[in-house]
Amino acid sequence: MKQLKLIGFVIFLFFLTESLNLPTKPQDVDFSTTQKFIEENVGHITTIAFAQYIQEASFEEAEMLAKAMTEYKDQCLANSTLSQCLKLPQDVLLETICAMEGLPQKHNFSHCCSKVNDERRRCFFRNKKGDVGFLPPLPTLDPEVKCQAYKNNSESFLSNYIYEVSRRNPFVFAPTLLRVTDLIEEMTKTCCEEQDKANCFRIKAETVVRYLKGLSSYQKNVCGAYVKFGQQVLNSIYIVILSNKFPRIEFKELISLLQDVSSKYDVCCEGDAVQCVHGRSKVMSHICSKQDSISNNIKKCCEKKIPERGECIINSNKDDRPNDLSLKESKFTENEHLCEERKADQDIFMAKFLYEYSRRHPELSTPQLLRIASVYDDLLKECCNTENPPDCYRNAESKFNETTEKSLQIVQQECERFQRLGEGDLKYHYLIKFTKMAPQLSTDEVTFLGEEMVTALTTCCTLSEEFACVDNLVDLVVGEICGVNENRTINPAVDHCCNASFAFRRPCFEALGADKTYVPPSTSQGLFTFHTDLCQAHNEELQRKKDRFLVNLVKLKPELTDEALLSLLTDFTNLVDKCCKAEGPQACFNEQVPELVAKSQVS
Ligand SMILES: *[C@@H]1O[C@H](CO)[C@@H](O)[C@H](O)[C@H]1NC(C)=O
Ligand SMILES: *[C@@H]1O[C@H](CO)[C@@H](O)[C@H](O)[C@H]1NC(C)=O
Ligand SMILES: *[C@@H]1O[C@H](CO)[C@@H](O)[C@H](O)[C@H]1NC(C)=O
Ligand SMILES: *[C@@H]1O[C@H](CO)[C@@H](O)[C@H](O)[C@H]1NC(C)=O
Ligand SMILES: *[C@@H]1O[C@H](CO)[C@@H](O)[C@H](O)[C@H]1NC(C)=O
Ligand SMILES: *[C@@H]1O[C@H](CO)[C@@H](O)[C@H](O)[C@H]1NC(C)=O
Repeated sequence: MKQLKLIGFVIFLFFLTESLNLPTKPQDVDFSTTQKFIEENVGHITTIAFAQYIQEASFEEAEMLAKAMTEYKDQCLANSTLSQCLKLPQDVLLETICAMEGLPQKHNFSHCCSKVNDERRRCFFRNKKGDVGFLPPLPTLDPEVKCQAYKNNSESFLSNYIYEVSRRNPFVFAPTLLRVTDLIEEMTKTCCEEQDKANCFRIKAETVVRYLKGLSSYQKNVCGAYVKFGQQVLNSIYIVILSNKFPRIEFKELISLLQDVSSKYDVCCEGDAVQCVHGRSKVMSHICSKQDSISNNIKKCCEKKIPERGECIINSNKDDRPNDLSLKESKFTENEHLCEERKADQDIFMAKFLYEYSRRHPELSTPQLLRIASVYDDLLKECCNTENPPDCYRNAESKFNETTEKSLQIVQQECERFQRLGEGDLKYHYLIKFTKMAPQLSTDEVTFLGEEMVTALTTCCTLSEEFACVDNLVDLVVGEICGVNENRTINPAVDHCCNASFAFRRPCFEALGADKTYVPPSTSQGLFTFHTDLCQAHNEELQRKKDRFLVNLVKLKPELTDEALLSLLTDFTNLVDKCCKAEGPQACFNEQVPELVAKSQVS
């Protein structure tokens, strides 16, 4: 069935190319520039791909591979007719990784090396671990040491950074990581000149981290959709994003651009760094060469170099709706012949609808536009089987408004909750909600998700684009739960929400209660064993311990009400406060804890 759909899409694009007389694709004028960029950055690109695939590997191993690939490149530049130079760079890379002595056994990926071609690539992709809890946190160096190391050997310093960042962000696309490397170099140069280096690093690093995190969750979400739902959903997502961002674009141009985008996406998702850089560059060249028909907002971006150009275009503002574009598009509701048109080609029909609706509604989020398309598709399916279809689909617009109203309400409630509770209690709210809903998730993951929810709401609530912003960002949190390179099985209710419908994931999760299949552990598993090291924790560290206590408490006592759970958390906080001030903290803990345990059992 899935296979059929994929073939369906390929034919769909082919057919469009034939029947719509697509504008001729602009030549990738930047191909040789991109090639040169790749050649110059072979070391970094290799390090990215390697560290993302084999996250356990050491920096020395990464450097060895980078050296081997650089030699390979030099060989091929000297004589491109050598047989190994005709292979895809990705295949050469994986071959070289597999040929590194002892490495496949050491890091447990021999099973991938025993496969070839597509199978091998896919195996390496599936091997990536999104949960990087097995790695230590990113090392923080003293600023003086950092500056010295950079001055000493800037290349090695940057490679080490790329390595550390890539293995912790295995799904981020290579161009994004290359851009992050540039930002890190800029930051290091600037901050090492400053008097107060530490402060400079702290402030600038925050910006880099925010930039990386944002793109990372977005790329993961789209790749997760691609892996679970295939090319068709990926295309719908990009029709929405491109039409929403570039409302002036013509449908034919959009489809032509979509071909470039979709051919890039699978390679980027699977971690083929070289092809991803090429694919990205092709898309951006396409956009830049057609500025008069796509957007007049990106001139400045198009003057920039790779990889900055791409990120600049992605982050540029949406264009305004063209003046001659009416707000209402009646041809999808008041046309007598809709059923015939739809029947002639459903894919093109829906693509056109999605395009027309998205370019008219910059205020809506990507998932909301997909929900509307899905409502429309269902409605037509139903109406085209009735005696009088036009009568039946005449009310389509009010159906669209209905779903939008529902989504708006959810967002309003979320933002009201944010205003009411403030950041701290808001996080507790989501920690409890997520743990009850999916107690199988690790404590680290739930804590991360809770933080992401708080970030989404603090970023978006009160913005004029509140709705789209919240709905888009919270959808990414849901995407995190559903996973990128695997079909996770968490519990039946959550799995259902993850794979039933991409567009309706969020409302599906919104309606989820506590997991009914969950059986809590029969012992408290040390939750109530406190040691004096608790007293050494301050600020962030203490907060982290509180968050973890709450999540583990919910896992142990999922039947307790939110109020009871929060009350126990307060008791825990008070107890830590009190005992850490006491003469003998351990004695105090020993004395006080039974009370807390008793209370958790009564409530
Ligand atoms: C390039 O490699 C091919 C194939 O091995 C060989 O026949 C040819 O002589 C080489 N050319 C140069 C300039 O080394
Ligand atoms: C090695 O990988 C295989 C296949 O993915 C897995 O079944 C096995 O548990 C792994 N072993 C270790 C030690 O991680
Ligand atoms: C700088 O390089 C020298 C020689 O390569 C080395 O001994 C020293 O440890 C390096 N210092 C730092 C801070 O990396
Ligand atoms: C749907 O909502 C839009 C925008 O709020 C409004 O202009 C339009 O009249 C509504 N249409 C129907 C049929 O309710
Ligand atoms: C996940 O499930 C979908 C649909 O059943 C399937 O097409 C896809 O190959 C699966 N992906 C993985 C990584 O198993
Ligand atoms: C969702 O995907 C999982 C893993 O592939 C599968 O076991 C489950 O049956 C799917 N559920 C639905 C509702 O499709």
